[in-house]
This record gives sequence, structure tokens and C-alpha cells, in this order.
Amino acid sequence: MMKNVFVSNHPLLRHKLTLLRDTETKHKQFREVVGEMAKLLCYEATQDLPLQEQLVTTPLGTAKGYRLLGEIGLVPILRAGLGMVDGMLEMLPGSQVWHLGFYRDEKTLHPVAYYNKLPNQATVQMCLILDPMLATGGSAVAAVDTLKHWGAERIKFVGLIGSPEGIEKLHSVHPDVPIHLAAIDDGLNDIGFIVPGLGDAGDRQFGTG
Ligand code: PRP
Repeated sequence: MMKNVFVSNHPLLRHKLTLLRDTETKHKQFREVVGEMAKLLCYEATQDLPLQEQLVTTPLGTAKGYRLLGEIGLVPILRAGLGMVDGMLEMLPGSQVWHLGFYRDEKTLHPVAYYNKLPNQATVQMCLILDPMLATGGSAVAAVDTLKHWGAERIKFVGLIGSPEGIEKLHSVHPDVPIHLAAIDDGLNDIGFIVPGLGDAGDRQFGTG
């Protein structure tokens, strides 16, 4: 496994990803499962968050406790990343959410930026980019470029499925960005879809397929 690439083999993630892959799974359940997987991947991707020690008074005395240090920014890539936001927010309720819109030009497969709701200045310690699919890697690289240009220091990518090509691309351009996934699939087809994958994550969540 490449350094900085983390694929969880947690049984809950494997089970839920199988539901997402299944053509029989309809929009409502698809959305629910994307959210559940986001919650589990949040747990995986936050294992190294810094803590500050803090004493806490319990009913029976004083215990050593901890509090999370620093703020987190969740950066969903529209549209498909939207489905991962609520699950993440349940675990990290104080996070800020910044939306970035990229769509892939169908011919060139290059990402086209169409929405950017970043505040003027980077004010958080860590950004989690949320996008279910890391296909050619173009959208993820563009999202990291945008966040770095804006001043973000620590960035992680959190997705459901990656292709070997997409992982290689994101890793080679931004080796400092850890990649958290639930699976690595075989590759891309001639229109840039991950195979076997789960189809179009945006269409399957929002019923537009
Ligand atoms: C899909 C997916 C990623 C991107 C991945 O979005 O959600 O954002 O493609 O492809 P890449 O790694 O080759 O850049 P799409 O452009 O279909 O837009 P949508 O989320 O609005 O459906």
C-alpha cells in the first residue's frame, strides 16, 4: 500500500459498500448508506487529531480528560460529496462546511470549477475533502489546489471508492494529503467511471440518473 493511502477493511464499511454497489438499492437507502459510511470513515480519518489534556469533574472526583484542539473544515465536492456531510457533522458537530463545485467535462474528463464558498481566510487546522468517488483524480487534485492556494495547511481526502489511477494522481501531485477510502477498485472505463464501482454517485443519491 502506498504511503498515506488508507483503505479500511472494517466489516461495517464492506457490508455497506456492497449495498451501494447493488443496482437494486434505491435513492433513499443509497443516501442513508452514504451517510452511514461517512460517519465510519470520519472515525478512520480523525484518528490523529490533536488533543489537549483537561481535568474534568465527575460525580466521584477528578479525572484526566481531553478536548479536541483546533477546528475542522468539511469540504464537500458538489454534488456527490453532499451526501457525506451530515454523517460527518454528527461526529464533528462544530465543523465549518465549505462547498466546492466541480463537474467533469464529459469529453476531456477535466474538472470545471463552478462554485466556491470558501471564506476569505483559512481559519481551521484541518480540512476534510469529501467526495465518494476518486476516479481520474482530477476533481480531488483541483480541490486540494484550491484549498492550498487559499491557505489550508492540513488536508485529507475522504472518499468511498478510489481507482488506482485516481489514487496515483492525487498522491503524486499532493503526497502530503492522506487518502481515506473504503475500497480500491479495478480501474476506469472509457468514459472515466470507476469499474466495477457503484455507477454515478451523484445521480444515485439524487435520483437524476
Ligand atoms: C463525480 C464524482 C467526483 C468526480 C470524480 O462527479 O462525484 O466529483 O466525478 O471524478 P474525477 O476523479 O475523474 O475528477 P460528477 O462530475 O459526475 O458530478 P456530480 O457529483 O455533480 O454528479
